[in-house]
Amino acid sequence: MSRLPSGDLLPKIETSPPGPRARQLCRDLSDYEAPGINTLGLGENTLVWEEALGSNVLDVDGNRYLDLTAGFGVAAVGHRHPLVVSAIRRQASRLVHGLGDVHAHPSRVELARALCRRVPVDDPRVYFAASGSDAVEIALKTAYLATGRPGILAFDPAYHGLTLGSLQVTSRPEFREPFLPLFHSWVRRLPFGCSSERIAEVLASDPDIGGVLVEPMVGREGLIPAPVGWLREISDLCRRHAVALIADEIFTGFGRTGTWFAVEADGVQPDLLCCGKALAGGLPIGAVLGRRGLMDAWRGSHEALHTATFIANPLSCAAALAVLETLERQNLPERAANLGRVIAARTDSWSERFGSVVEVRGLGLAWGIDLASPDAANALLDQMLHDGIVALAGGPEGRVVQICPPLVITDRQIAFALDAIEARLRQN
Ligand SMILES: Cc1ncc(COP(=O)(O)O)c(C=O)c1O
Repeated sequence: MSRLPSGDLLPKIETSPPGPRARQLCRDLSDYEAPGINTLGLGENTLVWEEALGSNVLDVDGNRYLDLTAGFGVAAVGHRHPLVVSAIRRQASRLVHGLGDVHAHPSRVELARALCRRVPVDDPRVYFAASGSDAVEIALKTAYLATGRPGILAFDPAYHGLTLGSLQVTSRPEFREPFLPLFHSWVRRLPFGCSSERIAEVLASDPDIGGVLVEPMVGREGLIPAPVGWLREISDLCRRHAVALIADEIFTGFGRTGTWFAVEADGVQPDLLCCGKALAGGLPIGAVLGRRGLMDAWRGSHEALHTATFIANPLSCAAALAVLETLERQNLPERAANLGRVIAARTDSWSERFGSVVEVRGLGLAWGIDLASPDAANALLDQMLHDGIVALAGGPEGRVVQICPPLVITDRQIAFALDAIEARLRQN
């Protein structure tokens, strides 16, 4: 039985987090799980989630929180949205697992159609993936197959995943350096937001570049919106040099920045668009939507050249259809845009008023509070946790406290979170 009621709930802390049950479970986990896959190796206890609903999380010690992470951006429609849950139940009563690339199922067909109708890509075809980084791998392979050129221009900072292919285009040295000998040498990198002249120079001077890969707004690496018009300039340059423009919308897609897809704010149609995270409301999925001309480059083999056992999983496809319907019905991209204006107005003066704040920046429901140091960010996160607010820090040094709640967060909940953060900043 669920202990978390639905509704416009504020946090309620019963035991200073993490409580005794969470600590015990962390000790048990550290007996069995490899170091590196969690923070336990650092001697840190983590929260242990028991339930989540809407914008609330309940931990194993009975503490109720507001979730400003949206579960890494996955819970755009809220945790356990009733439409998503009933779609999963319905699908589970018929078919839980399909045959990947070999045999299809109806939900996969319906989702392919729905995605192709919705994405800002000209005459798109979809290639399903098992995760976000798998979608990035597919996009990189597609750009190469379609252009015959292996080079990729990527930006710094950027996060595109940590699998071996996606890691080559992710920027943070901490992730890359242990594996440098495993990398190829085709990735060029420029600063995110750099002048279009610098991009033009690289594209003109390097005939091996077949794709430009960009996050329309930097997500995990610091929540940095692209300068207005920048994506359009990149798109024009890509057309001029016959290079594929790959938009990584894994974090930004499905309403997070206030439009269905972040590239739409600049009126850009990428050649390839990667998505994942929010798409299936909590079940694993990824997808690349690409212009038919490029996607046709995959033709001609008897085997699927890129596939995985769980691609286009029936439960994920059914959940994704419910997510798309919910985003549409509840007009959630617009809600994100409106709440973004509320957050902008509220945080506008924070860098002037609070010594620890360098900058507050964002769009829609993707905001970052850039603090003076990682220690300042960690201290704020800890205070927020004790106020009943779950958040994460991002950026290469972990200095940027993120405000990325479910798009269904209520006015009262977001006001509570902003009040609590402001009170802590005032006191720090
Ligand atoms: C922009 C972006 N690309 C790719 C990824 C990797 O996705 P996944 O963790 O599902 O492999 C992420 C995950 O945070 C992301 O934010």
